[in-house]
Amino acid sequence: MKATKKRVLSGIQPSGRLHLGNYFGMIKRMVEYQESSDLFCFIANLHSLTSVTDGKALKKLTLEAAMDLLALGMDPKKSVFWVQSDVPEVAELTWVLACITPMGLMERAHSYKDKVAKGILPNLGLFNYPALMAADILIYQSELVPVGKDQKQHVEMTRDMAFKFNSVFGETFTIPEPDIAEEVATVPGTDGQKMSKSYNNTIPIFGTDAEIKKAVMGIVTDSTPVEACKDPSTCNVFKLYGLFASKKETDELAGKYKAGGMGYGNAKKMLLEKIMAEFKPFREKREYLEAHPAEVEKALEFGAGRARKIAHSTMEKVRAATGLKY
Ligand code: ADP
Ligand code: TRP
Repeated sequence: MKATKKRVLSGIQPSGRLHLGNYFGMIKRMVEYQESSDLFCFIANLHSLTSVTDGKALKKLTLEAAMDLLALGMDPKKSVFWVQSDVPEVAELTWVLACITPMGLMERAHSYKDKVAKGILPNLGLFNYPALMAADILIYQSELVPVGKDQKQHVEMTRDMAFKFNSVFGETFTIPEPDIAEEVATVPGTDGQKMSKSYNNTIPIFGTDAEIKKAVMGIVTDSTPVEACKDPSTCNVFKLYGLFASKKETDELAGKYKAGGMGYGNAKKMLLEKIMAEFKPFREKREYLEAHPAEVEKALEFGAGRARKIAHSTMEKVRAATGLKY
């Protein structure tokens, strides 16, 4: 008997230029999931609407995110890949879930509280963000939700909402599990802090050659002279090199650090070569898609059709169970 594959779902907000942290922390995992699971992956533009108020900008960010992900290996034939707002049923389910969710549960959301503490003037959409995320997960009957640690509580809230709905209205939703990859180390930025677009320390995947070179050559290193022995374990260049190189290559570079006589500039050049070689096919594909936007739109339309079919069938059950279908 053929084992059925697990339904895995994740959303990615379209938020600008992707960097090495996004790739190793999330996108590579998604691309790998396509092989082993029934993957659903979407661009969370409704979530972005809580903070982006420029229509042209949101449209551009959404199409760019689609091109980025397709270039990096998302394959619309192997996974269901679409834009969140193309399935308006999720907005309907968000309302239904909001009506069974106690205020207390929503008020405990760390992500919301953190944003408010940072001085953001919250809108109702931001407060309701976890209910929209729950609708995304539940409407597709997802079993596993790979997210970063910061999103774990949102998946737990989703479980609470699903239990509540099932107990009030009858079994309707699959209860999802969060999938937090503890082993995915935080990718360091050029200054050694976590690589993040908010810290201006990123190495962009789809930057120009000159931008990538400038970022790599600008990685902060200590002032150990060329002749001296160096400690690879504390060096940002070495940590990044390890993401691309084989075990043998990594050991070789570690040997050179420890032996002395090699400057950090050399290690940076080796890292730059690795980055360029690994991302070359992705960068070429990205250029191709940019020149053929109709292919991107076609892929998204195909994905939206598949996603919508499932969302529609779940909503039929929800409408029947809640009495909205009269
Ligand atoms: P940023 O910190 O640049 O704003 P996001 O929060 O938009 O990045 O990140 C999207 C996803 O990419 C996160 O959920 C996380 O899984 C992954 N990610 C981002 N930065 C890193 C990093 N430095 N190391 C590992 N994963 C990361
Ligand atoms: N909130 C997630 C983030 O910012 C994106 C997201 C939206 C998501 N809906 C989702 C992730 C559903 C997983 C499942 O990273």
